[in-house]
Amino acid sequence: MITINEHYLKLQASYLFSDIAKRVAAFQEQNPEIEIIKLGIGDVTRPLPRACIDAFHKAVEEMASEASFRGYGPEQGYAFLREAIAANDFQARGADIQADEIFVSDGAKCDTGNIQELFSQDIKIAIPDPVYPVYLDTNVMAGRTGAYVDGRYQGIVYLDSTKENNFVPALPREKVDLIYLCFPNNPTGSTISTAELKTWVDYAREHQALILFDAAYEIFIRDQSLPHTIYEIEGAKEVAIEFRSYSKSAGFTGTRCAYTVIPKECTAYDRNGGRQPLHSLWNRRHCTKFNGVSYPVQRAAEAVYSEEGKTQTRELADYYLHNAASVRRAMQDLGFFFVGGENSPYVWINGGRDSWDFFDMLLNKAGVVCTPGAGFGRCGNGYIRISAFNSHEKVEKAMKRLKDALS
Ligand code: MLT
Repeated sequence: MITINEHYLKLQASYLFSDIAKRVAAFQEQNPEIEIIKLGIGDVTRPLPRACIDAFHKAVEEMASEASFRGYGPEQGYAFLREAIAANDFQARGADIQADEIFVSDGAKCDTGNIQELFSQDIKIAIPDPVYPVYLDTNVMAGRTGAYVDGRYQGIVYLDSTKENNFVPALPREKVDLIYLCFPNNPTGSTISTAELKTWVDYAREHQALILFDAAYEIFIRDQSLPHTIYEIEGAKEVAIEFRSYSKSAGFTGTRCAYTVIPKECTAYDRNGGRQPLHSLWNRRHCTKFNGVSYPVQRAAEAVYSEEGKTQTRELADYYLHNAASVRRAMQDLGFFFVGGENSPYVWINGGRDSWDFFDMLLNKAGVVCTPGAGFGRCGNGYIRISAFNSHEKVEKAMKRLKDALS
């Protein structure tokens, strides 16, 4: 008799963004005349930068001729892309990361979801609340949690991110082994200072723990004092894995390319207390389960690092930051408490009521889709997240509708 992985039954009915999409589709069916403005899921709307498109086209043409055609590429990614990443995203910032410590992939969602396979079942995991649901759900699927009780999974150490701590969680009181951090943060848009990030690195070093640092929103950092990579912090290479994505930085949500950095010094312990390099374990997994990102997509990603690519991706991020500023202004006018939107495409707003009620109200009264904060965890209740990923026109229109509906 075939039996299931019972841990799946502990999961909430559906993935947050699928749930929202279903509610929005039902609303649209009942109200076909309303033009819905989507500021919910963080999905980009602007076209790929010209430099990426040109490189993409050129690489597709190469695939059309026998002399330049490419079959399977290296599972870890082509050297041209890994070298460009190491030089631009790390070495240029004084972080000593080498090309062979980079694993190119088809998404940070997959990488942050899959990485937990490297660790044993009985580790203690610390996860922020609110949080990008993937970190939590993949550990639930793997059987590292107990049941879901009162909005939380038993066995997880939740790191509350609240107004009181400026949405940067405090170090856990108990000893944990694996820590998920994301800055600039999804969903709150909050940022972490170098000094704060250092306390986490120091904690991980002291407790033989590992930090999984999701930096998918790094391109939006404008405050020059903020760290762009965890490897700017001394000692992080031994205790941190970093995830990056071209989804938000270059508009690749539909093109798919990301990467994970696992420094060679980064280790975890085996049952005998020996240190095992995570780089070789992930390499083994990657080669077994993944056949690499397509050649044209990797060429398009490489173009992000050309002079034109750098200018164009910066302009792209500025475009969305302009929207985030409009959202912030509207929330200020409405008198809501909010954070984010300055070094992040997300604005986290306290609507003073249940987040799903607020979500429904905005949809029904203004035709605007946001993301209910409660979907990101218990500490998200009372909040909604508004994403800046849309056109200037639509964001302005949405803010006007919100003001009309709420004031
Ligand atoms: C979000 O809306 O939180 C993001 O789009 C999720 C993702 O990048 O997978």
